[in-house]
Amino acid sequence: MAIPRRACACAYLHLQLVLLGCLLLPTAAQSQPVGEAELLLEIKRAWGDPPKLAAWSAAASAADAHCRWPYVGCDSTGRVTSLVLAGINVTGPIPDAIGGLSSLTHLDASYNSITGVFPSALYNCHSLEYLSLSWNHMGGELPDDIGRDLGANLSMLYLSVNKFNGTIPVSLSRLQNLRRLALDENLFIGSIPVEIWSLKKLQWLDVSGNNFTGDVVVEGFTAMSLVMICVSENKLTGMIPEIFGRLRNLTHMLLSNNNFSGEIPLSIGWLPSLKTLSLSGNRLTGTLPSELGKYSLGLSSVFVHDNKLTGTIPEWLCAGGHLESLLASSNRLNGSIPIGLANCASLMELNLDNNQLSGEVPKALWTAGKHAIPAVALGLVHFIGDNNPFSGEIPPHIDYGMPLLHHLNLANNKLYGNIC
Ligand SMILES: *[C@@H]1O[C@H](CO)[C@@H](O)[C@H](O)[C@H]1NC(C)=O
Ligand SMILES: *[C@@H]1O[C@H](CO)[C@@H](O)[C@H](O)[C@H]1NC(C)=O
Ligand SMILES: *[C@@H]1O[C@H](CO)[C@@H](O)[C@H](O)[C@H]1NC(C)=O
Ligand SMILES: *[C@@H]1O[C@H](CO)[C@@H](O)[C@H](O)[C@H]1NC(C)=O
Ligand SMILES: *[C@@H]1O[C@H](CO)[C@@H](O)[C@H](O)[C@H]1NC(C)=O
Ligand SMILES: *[C@@H]1O[C@H](CO)[C@@H](O)[C@H](O)[C@H]1NC(C)=O
Ligand SMILES: *[C@@H]1O[C@H](CO)[C@@H](O)[C@H](O)[C@H]1NC(C)=O
Repeated sequence: MAIPRRACACAYLHLQLVLLGCLLLPTAAQSQPVGEAELLLEIKRAWGDPPKLAAWSAAASAADAHCRWPYVGCDSTGRVTSLVLAGINVTGPIPDAIGGLSSLTHLDASYNSITGVFPSALYNCHSLEYLSLSWNHMGGELPDDIGRDLGANLSMLYLSVNKFNGTIPVSLSRLQNLRRLALDENLFIGSIPVEIWSLKKLQWLDVSGNNFTGDVVVEGFTAMSLVMICVSENKLTGMIPEIFGRLRNLTHMLLSNNNFSGEIPLSIGWLPSLKTLSLSGNRLTGTLPSELGKYSLGLSSVFVHDNKLTGTIPEWLCAGGHLESLLASSNRLNGSIPIGLANCASLMELNLDNNQLSGEVPKALWTAGKHAIPAVALGLVHFIGDNNPFSGEIPPHIDYGMPLLHHLNLANNKLYGNIC
């Protein structure tokens, strides 16, 4: 069996560095964390002595003085466990010295101007649980071995809003403690690796705003803890996986602005925790799940505009009394506005334009009745219903009935009446 020369060379180099580290910090291994302050100062220097780190200074005498420096947290033995460096205006790559902080569990370097590639120095921080490099200017591909070499305790990985490119390394799925994974707003390509869906503890997955393509393949799916799935703003194709409808804790399902097609699985209508369903801007056909809202009693936002949906608006959308927005413009929905919606006092935004909806607009949507029941119109801020065959009379004094109304458009219908 041939061992690739490159791999050998790297292993050798690595060994050398480790040995060098030991020579430099002969007493650091056990109780005397003297090296920690020096590492922090090295980080500060590498970043060009940023003003926000001015208080990091060698002048202090006590062995654990660095633990009282701003943004630094330590354990009881004076080892650095957390660095919260968010928004402190640092520029340049993550310094390699960070890898010397062997007890680091929490690193937040978000909202800076950090450049360079993903810092493999962090592989030496075996206890890392929380890593955020979001909102920086980092780029290049994530290393293939990232999921093998980052500490197995990593549970939060945020790389949002950078310029990382290439594909998602399959090895990420080896981080079996991962609870949150945010790769949104980068330049990633390729498909979402099927292995991601076997992260049993994953609650929060955001890969929106990249250039992902292909079908969402979910074979061997075991990510039953998911609370949020956000894959919006990519070029994903194929059907919405039926299994998404079996995620009992799912509150946010955000799939908008892709190229999904086929019908919405009926199971989506049975999600007990669902609050926001966003499927807009795809090529979905068929009907909205007829029981949508019936079992999702916290449902508050339904965004399904710009698809090719047919059939009627489900009766149950406001069954839990929390529906605030229904955006269903630009489909082929027909039938009339259901009673369930007309009685929905929480409703603020109703966009139904460019459909084939007919019948009278329920009185409750126009104006709070004299006896104040139902009072849907009281909360309505946007009501857009143009380009439908709605019929009937627009009630007089519509303006009294809808005190918060900001935007009303009912052009191109079959309505009549006087608007004063
Ligand atoms: C960040 O640094 C730049 C120069 O590098 C400076 O102009 C700017 O004022 C700094 N911003 C803050 C919030 O310190
Ligand atoms: C990982 O977490 C467990 C449980 O909190 C802890 O016992 C273990 O020491 C951690 N591993 C490392 C490398 O820090
Ligand atoms: C990925 O990013 C690196 C560094 O920014 C760049 O050199 C490389 O050309 C990029 N690759 C692609 C395929 O865009
Ligand atoms: C996304 O992919 C398309 C075609 O595959 C390519 O033309 C486009 O430049 C890519 N955009 C980004 C931001 O990578
Ligand atoms: C769903 O949430 C509940 C309550 O927070 C929790 O006890 C349960 O373990 C979660 N289920 C899964 C599969 O994560
Ligand atoms: C969506 O998919 C269809 C068929 O697979 C394809 O013809 C079309 O170009 C895709 N649209 C976009 C915006 O990628
Ligand atoms: C709605 O359209 C479907 C065909 O897409 C038709 O079968 C149905 O009768 C229509 N319903 C109403 C109430 O117009």
